[in-house]
This record gives sequence, structure tokens and C-alpha cells, in this order.
Amino acid sequence: MFKEYFQYKGISFPRLIYSERGLREVENEFQVRDDDVFNVTYQKSGTVWMLEILSLIHSKGDPSQCRTVPNWNRGPWYETVLGLQTARSNQSPRLISSHLPIQLFAKSFFQSKAKVLYTVRNPKDVFVSLYHFAQIFRPYKEPGQLDQFLEQFLEGDVPFGSWFDHVKGWMGLRGHENFFWITYEELQQDLRGSVERICQFLGKPLDARALDGVVENASFQAMKQNKMCNFSLAPRFLLDQTQSSFLRKGITGDWKNQLTTAQSENFDRIYREQMQGLDLSFPWDQL
Ligand code: A3P
Repeated sequence: MFKEYFQYKGISFPRLIYSERGLREVENEFQVRDDDVFNVTYQKSGTVWMLEILSLIHSKGDPSQCRTVPNWNRGPWYETVLGLQTARSNQSPRLISSHLPIQLFAKSFFQSKAKVLYTVRNPKDVFVSLYHFAQIFRPYKEPGQLDQFLEQFLEGDVPFGSWFDHVKGWMGLRGHENFFWITYEELQQDLRGSVERICQFLGKPLDARALDGVVENASFQAMKQNKMCNFSLAPRFLLDQTQSSFLRKGITGDWKNQLTTAQSENFDRIYREQMQGLDLSFPWDQL
């Protein structure tokens, strides 16, 4: 069971924390409520960061809840076996996290007024972050050599499938009034301004003091010290942070330290092939 994957509609999931039955339930039976807020990402794109930001916006910058309730209870990953139970039993308004590609998302969402915030990150940094994460997250297979793992990532042969498909799928909702997207790089560059934009989308404006509270408590340093979001409470059989941390570096452009020129150029070539013809521009396109 450890490190074993199963396929659900062509996408790999680790058996230790997901099940076919749970995924079927999420897709077909989960009842989305109009006041649900979904924090959606391809893995390693800033999920827990956005979760913290959304929790803090909800509490108007007051960190009490973020310092006492684990993030997986505040914004459960509803496609996991445990997260589904938590999401079902949490009171409204619910915050729910997800890495699901759009075609596996709860069908009832598409008939609801629930909101989705989609965070996208430079896929080279996503890859590097995932490479380190796969070494400490027990449900995942050992990534092996970086070059070999890179090939798997670019082919979409990793849990949650292809980054390209995920992004193209979700970004198809651009222009819908209940869909908002932002990049990890924008959060890095201007956290306060990004939080203001998020508040506007949620229809929850904050005063300057509340904004200060959000920005302060969602910083990398504050989150790294907060047991409720640094995963130090996660059981060792799931996450072993003795070698590396979940909140590892928290920077943009770490790929430059980890990929060779040839690997980076190959990545660029596949990126261009996959993203061509799309009317999308990201901060990393200019790099
Ligand atoms: P690195 O491995 O590059 O450090 P996810 O939550 O989607 O799994 O993404 C995890 C990545 O987001 C990790 O990237 C982590 O350090 C980064 N991250 C989490 N909180 C952050 C914050 N407050 N500021 C910057 N980066 C953050």
C-alpha cells in the first residue's frame, strides 16, 4: 500500500490517502454550497500559502484560528479520504482545498455560485519543489534521479497528472465571475496588493489593520514557525521532515540552481509546444 499508485480516469493517485470510491464520491455526489470557497492548485504551487491567506482574510487578520487549528481542518483537501469527511462536516462558509484537475472536480460546483481561487506557479519551480517533496512525502514514490523525474513530470506521469493539462483546464474558466486566478510570483512580489485583489473577488474588503494582520501572518517566516501550517503535526508515516521541509525555500527561481541548461531548454521546448496558441501570459514567460 505504501507508495502504490492507482489510476482514476487516467490520473495517478497514491493509495495511502486516496481511494477510487472517494474520488467518485467527490466527483458525482459531493454537494457544493453557494458560499463555498475553493483553493485550487496544481500541487506545489502555493496551496498552503493561499489557504493561510484565505483563513486570515476570513478572520479579518486575526491569527488566533490559524494558530490553533491545523490547516487541513480549516481548508481540507476534499479529494483525500480524510479531507472529504472534514469538508462534509465543516460548517459554512467552508474553505476547501483541492489539487484535482477540472474534469474530476465536483460536478455540483458547475451549477453553483461557489468561488474558485486558482494559484499558478512557474512549472520549473513547481517541478523542483515537487522533486524535494516527493523525497519526504511517504505516499509518493521516491523520485530517483532528477533527470528521470523531470521526464516523468513533463509527460504528466506523476500524481495529479500533467501540469500543462491542469493549468489549461482550469484557466478555461477565465472570465467567469466565480473564478479568480493569481500566480505564486505575484504573491511573492506584492503580497499586500494580492491580498487586496483577493478580498475584492471575495467581496470582503479589509481595513488597513486587518490587511497588516493577513500579510504578517502569511509570510514565509511566520508560516514556518506556525505548527498549524508547517506540517510538524503531520504523522511521520506521512511526512518525514528530517531531511527537507514542507516549507522548504519559499522563493521564485530556485530552478536556476537545480536544472542544467539542457534540462531547462528541453523544459522550454515542451512548454512552448504545450502552451502554444493559448491567450495566456504568465510572469515567467518573460524570463
Ligand atoms: P518550495 O518547495 O519551493 O519552498 P504547496 O502548498 O502547493 O504544496 O506548495 C508548497 C510550496 O509553497 C513550497 O515551495 C513552499 O515553501 C511554498 N510556500 C508555502 N508558504 C509560502 C509562503 N508564505 N511564502 C512563500 N512560499 C511559500
